[in-house]
Amino acid sequence: MKSPIPRYLNLILDAVRETDGGEVADYIPALAKVDPARLGVAICTTTGRCYQVGDNAPFSLQSISKPFTYALALEESGFEAVSEIVGVEPSGDAFNELSLEADGRPMNPMINAGAIAVNQLINGSGSSVSDRIDKILGFFSALAGRPLTINKEIATSELDTADRNFALAHMLHSFGIVDDDPHDAVVTYVHQCAIEVTVSDLAVMAATLASGGIQPVTGARVIGPEAARIAQSVMTSAGMYDYAGRWMTKVGIPAKSGVSGGLMGTLPGRMGIATFSPKLDSTGTSVRGREAFAYMSRHMDLHLLQGNNYRVPGVRSIHEESDKTVITLQGYVNFTVAEEISSTLLREAPASSRVILDVSRVTGFNAIGRKIVKEQLRRIREEGAQVVLYDPENRITDMDYSDGTRMDEVDTL
Ligand code: DON
Repeated sequence: MKSPIPRYLNLILDAVRETDGGEVADYIPALAKVDPARLGVAICTTTGRCYQVGDNAPFSLQSISKPFTYALALEESGFEAVSEIVGVEPSGDAFNELSLEADGRPMNPMINAGAIAVNQLINGSGSSVSDRIDKILGFFSALAGRPLTINKEIATSELDTADRNFALAHMLHSFGIVDDDPHDAVVTYVHQCAIEVTVSDLAVMAATLASGGIQPVTGARVIGPEAARIAQSVMTSAGMYDYAGRWMTKVGIPAKSGVSGGLMGTLPGRMGIATFSPKLDSTGTSVRGREAFAYMSRHMDLHLLQGNNYRVPGVRSIHEESDKTVITLQGYVNFTVAEEISSTLLREAPASSRVILDVSRVTGFNAIGRKIVKEQLRRIREEGAQVVLYDPENRITDMDYSDGTRMDEVDTL
């Protein structure tokens, strides 16, 4: 029996595939070579279950690297020291804006000025460029749970056209915010931006932030809980630059975009999400990625600031009796809870030929939660079991399966 979740993710890609518009970034010439049709999505829960559909080709992280390097700097130096060189206020400006605060500090670590200031903190002030890059690459690899590599062609290509970033580094140096040689600071920064990942990697990396710093697949603690929290706080207010307010209003997921076309979102305690589609809007955000996130937020009820985000385990008990298996669900069944129910039922397949789903303790289903649970039940039925529903409070509301058949009900357990 298979999980219904990949099929659902494919529906998301189908919903945005025809969305047109935007341009591939070409101010970094090597990025312009990408196939603009690429489209992929991945999610990874904080319990380490990951799903990916569409393209899983590697792409460079670009600005998506910024919250991770910021988290590493927080780990190494602490919030106080990091705050001396970069703030945590949204700037509302474009990512490459040539502006600093009156004291020379960039407003936040998500804009290029802030990210250049942050990356030279890594590995201590006396570090060589290559040791600093190695440290960042090692940290990112631990986040992904596999050895990542740097796309040297992209790094070199960016260095050739990095006038704005050099200008920022020189400004930061003149204020004493960057101690490093400004050229070295940009060299380190563009290598950080050129680290390559797939959407699968990026979803796990995002889930590591969402879980408070524990890589959910390897189980390793990669970031401390405070650094994970602060990095996501800044993503929430500034991760989408001059699009941040509209993004939080509409999508409501802490996120970070990159000009290669990647987009990452974190839902604290729940999951990491990643999309890849190279064409960008004028704010440097992937057009189809943006649409896919909006779709997921709406259809999967993922907006951080709405109700129904609390969690209790979705499966209260599974009782095997002589002639039946009674599966009792509980709480509010949103996507996260439904995913957990689905994977519990895959792992602990009911042993009897008669399966009763007891939803009398469920306080409600949202649309996606109901859809996933029903689809998993339909699949249990297809394996040959008789599946019936015990729903005295009429919580399921819609009894139709996706194949047009209807659920059977019982009045008593
Ligand atoms: O510094 C730059 O311009 C690139 N390496 C990264 C910019 C970026 O990804 C902005 N995000 N959407």
